[in-house]
Amino acid sequence: MSDTPFDVIIIGGGPGGYVAAIRSAQLGLKTACVDKRSTLGGTCLNVGCIPSKALLQSSHHYELAETEFANHGIEVKGLKVNLKTMMGRKDKVVEDLTNGIAYLFKKNKIEHLIGSGKITAPGTVEVTSGKNKQTITAKNIVIATGSEVAPLKGVDIDEKQIVSSTGALKLTKVPKSMIVIGGGVIGLELGSVWRRLGAEVTVVEFLDAILPGMDAEIVKQAGRTFKKQGMKIKNATKVTSAKAAKGGVTLTVEPAKGGKAEKLKADIVLVSVGRRPYSDALGLKDAGVATDERGFIPVDAHYQTNVAGIYAIGDVIGGAMLAHKAEEEGIACMERIAGEAGHVNYGAIPGVVYTHPEIAAVGKTEEQLKADGVEYVVGKFPFSANSRARANSDAEGFVKILSDKQTDRVLGCHIIGPGAGELVQEVVLAMEFEGAAEDVARTCHAHPGTAEAVKEAALAAIGRAIHI
Ligand code: FAD
Ligand code: NAI
Repeated sequence: MSDTPFDVIIIGGGPGGYVAAIRSAQLGLKTACVDKRSTLGGTCLNVGCIPSKALLQSSHHYELAETEFANHGIEVKGLKVNLKTMMGRKDKVVEDLTNGIAYLFKKNKIEHLIGSGKITAPGTVEVTSGKNKQTITAKNIVIATGSEVAPLKGVDIDEKQIVSSTGALKLTKVPKSMIVIGGGVIGLELGSVWRRLGAEVTVVEFLDAILPGMDAEIVKQAGRTFKKQGMKIKNATKVTSAKAAKGGVTLTVEPAKGGKAEKLKADIVLVSVGRRPYSDALGLKDAGVATDERGFIPVDAHYQTNVAGIYAIGDVIGGAMLAHKAEEEGIACMERIAGEAGHVNYGAIPGVVYTHPEIAAVGKTEEQLKADGVEYVVGKFPFSANSRARANSDAEGFVKILSDKQTDRVLGCHIIGPGAGELVQEVVLAMEFEGAAEDVARTCHAHPGTAEAVKEAALAAIGRAIHI
């Protein structure tokens, strides 16, 4: 390790931190990245986005083989799940990708320090690994320490019977039954994985509907679809206690607004009621870095905290807890430190729920536009009228584009359907360029393709859809 000061020390090697480190090195800054995990990639690569998507893919294949192959004239006998192999593949994907980041660090000459980072003073970070301590200094420190599972009162996570997402990604056998507390993104994704593999899954959601914050029409369709797939959903219900015993976990639930309590029982309970900022052991108080009442670190437009030279990005600063949002912030932050004009357009950050069908969104929902008093037009197109979706026998859902009534500018897009996460991306680009629905509608789309449903929704927004 070099004795000379760094230009930048980044604490946290998740999508925010590692991408910031690479951008920092590209900008010619001498960069160190400290993470207490031995592998890079943070929550996303190690216990989040990547392992969950690996299991979603495997379990989707299984479900297709079980329920769809016969329709295609493919007969399968003796179909069964080998969970050990499935988990092994997931672990290998994670290993390869985290090693890939280590390679990128070497390539970009970034100093990777494994240990817990503590800011002992502005410009100084103490890195502790076991009994070893070392102090490194830099002109700039970036906090990218991410988030952790939010606990739920009365429900103690043991990662065996009562698990967080981390435990749910490594169960050693398919449970007969699973109760998911929280009908958000994690609950629906991981609930889908275990349902497809054979568990009876019940989602208990506190609010009146799952996926709070998403467009209401999409949420309605999603609820119908998940129920059709066999997932039970209990909305407006709160969990008051959980008791794990040999035969399973017993939950006491009651209506969210109060009322008669009932008991639910399951082999496994997944707690997925959100995540909270993680800044333990960082020494924020001593360094004088302010946090808000929920523990998030407030920053200015340059991602600088209240202390000069100390910056923060990613989950730890709040907003959407998404890997790509953290990455964009990491890049913008480094560019600002280097005197450039990095910027994140928070109005055009997509969000995707990787269930089947996928659910994707960007920009405003219809409810938000109504609340803001914006006059808008809705253009909708169902996948049942899309030839590729029909050819694929994967035609559930629709595309919904919201555009400004006066200017035709695209204000939002909400998709539930096959490959929605990829399809939304063209609308994100259109919004980034402040494009109109007509711009999307007049763009040639390859036929047959599910993206034609996006074009048709844009055509519908200007009153001239062809295929409905
Ligand atoms: P993190 O990825 O949390 O990284 C922070 C890192 O900092 C960690 O490695 C931690 O070890 C390290 N650290 C913390 N404190 C210290 C310290 N004092 N010293 C040294 N190191 C420290 N987002 C998506 O966009 N798409 C998805 O599909 C998706 N799926 C998800 C699935 C699950 C199950 C979960 C839990 C999350 C998922 N997310 C997804 C959210 C995504 O993982 C986070 O938004 C993202 O990882 C945030 O990046 P970050 O860099 O801010 O923090
Ligand atoms: P979430 O915020 O998406 O959902 C939590 C759900 O739990 C909400 O529906 C909420 O109303 C409900 N809830 C809260 N308290 C409850 C209670 N006491 N009882 C019952 N329900 C309760 O949080 P989640 O799913 O834990 O995910 C955390 C973060 O990780 C999210 O912010 C998400 O952005 C990110 N993530 C992103 C993914 C993606 O982009 N595909 C995948 C997984 C996670």
